[in-house]
Amino acid sequence: MKILAIETSCDDTAISLAEYKSPYSLAKNFKILAETVSSQEKLHAEYGGVFPSLAKREHQKNALPLLIKIAGSLNLKKTKNLANAEKGIKLGKILERNPELSEQLAKFLPKYQKPKIDKIAITIGPGLEPCLWVGVNFARALSFYWDIPLLGVNHIEAHLYSCWLTPKPLPKFPAIGLVVSGGNTQLALIKKIGQYKLIGETRDDAAGECFDKTARILGLGYPGGKEIAKWAAKFKKPAYNIHLPRPMLHDKSFDFSFSGLKTAVLYDFKKRDNKTKSSENYISEMAKEIQDSVTEVLTAKTIKAAENYEVKSIILGGGVSANAKLRLIMENECHKRGLACFLPDPQYTADNASMIALCAALSPKAKNYNWKNIKPRPNLKING
Ligand code: KG4
Repeated sequence: MKILAIETSCDDTAISLAEYKSPYSLAKNFKILAETVSSQEKLHAEYGGVFPSLAKREHQKNALPLLIKIAGSLNLKKTKNLANAEKGIKLGKILERNPELSEQLAKFLPKYQKPKIDKIAITIGPGLEPCLWVGVNFARALSFYWDIPLLGVNHIEAHLYSCWLTPKPLPKFPAIGLVVSGGNTQLALIKKIGQYKLIGETRDDAAGECFDKTARILGLGYPGGKEIAKWAAKFKKPAYNIHLPRPMLHDKSFDFSFSGLKTAVLYDFKKRDNKTKSSENYISEMAKEIQDSVTEVLTAKTIKAAENYEVKSIILGGGVSANAKLRLIMENECHKRGLACFLPDPQYTADNASMIALCAALSPKAKNYNWKNIKPRPNLKING
């Protein structure tokens, strides 16, 4: 089976082409034939977070150029310009809300033969609705034009298996999965692949969002998680007596809350004089304290869930799982308890389309759609 996967849920436009034997299980070979990502990080830096309408515009601009980038692997063959008026009109209707993409595809598609792919996988949620729509409409257009069926993929579920995009031992189930990104913090009991119980989530800001917002308070760049980690690594010795809360650490539930942490950072920052606010020692001490608080809470709750549900493995995914401190303490705590700890290769922690292809191949929850009946689900949960 060859699968073309598309991801546009947030600020990365990504396309991958993968090959696998169907039915697929993690034990079998999954080969990425091509993968490409266009990141909008620099563009959103000015806003200290993702600006949805800007992200939508960029997805529209980037989708086709990324497909063209992998044209060699897709083996796209030129054909005599077979513009078909009826197909052209329908294509225009599918892409009514994406005029720029519509114009590009109307010129591009008639020039090529249908590629040899079996399925097109597309992220249907969760994510920013305007961004999800661009990917879904792009996938619908290709599905209609090439007559290739669609598979709708849950972005959170895909993050859970991103670990297996690089060779790894097989996970033992049941497992606890923690997906931590800029938009999501979800803790799930994974009974087996495709069977999830959402046991905890954030009640306000996501962990990555907390990094992004506190970095902004400190005048650091975007994405905040990387900046906070970089500054935390510069910390030498305490000088400012900073003590941030560990939100909901002792709460009975498996939920999280990070907005209070952001407020605590803001209060501390505001009471400092200008010289302190811009000093390397203060920023590094604060960054270390933020990182310690977030990573301690994430680890403690995940371990508590693992013990409570008596699981065998812990699986991490999402942009925040790139955090070296989180990876280290999670691995240590797992090791102490004889739990297997699965961490994605850093290159696959952020949004990518290879994980969408893998999840489409693997999960019984990846549903079949046709171009007429698929639409985004911005608030989709892991168990949705
Ligand atoms: O999964 P992702 O690429 O996009 C979505 O939000 O879906 O995650 C992005 C988030 C951002 O909030 C960013 O600050 C955070 O991941 N992040 C990190 C690190 N690298 C990125 N957080 C902590 N430590 C990092 N090294």
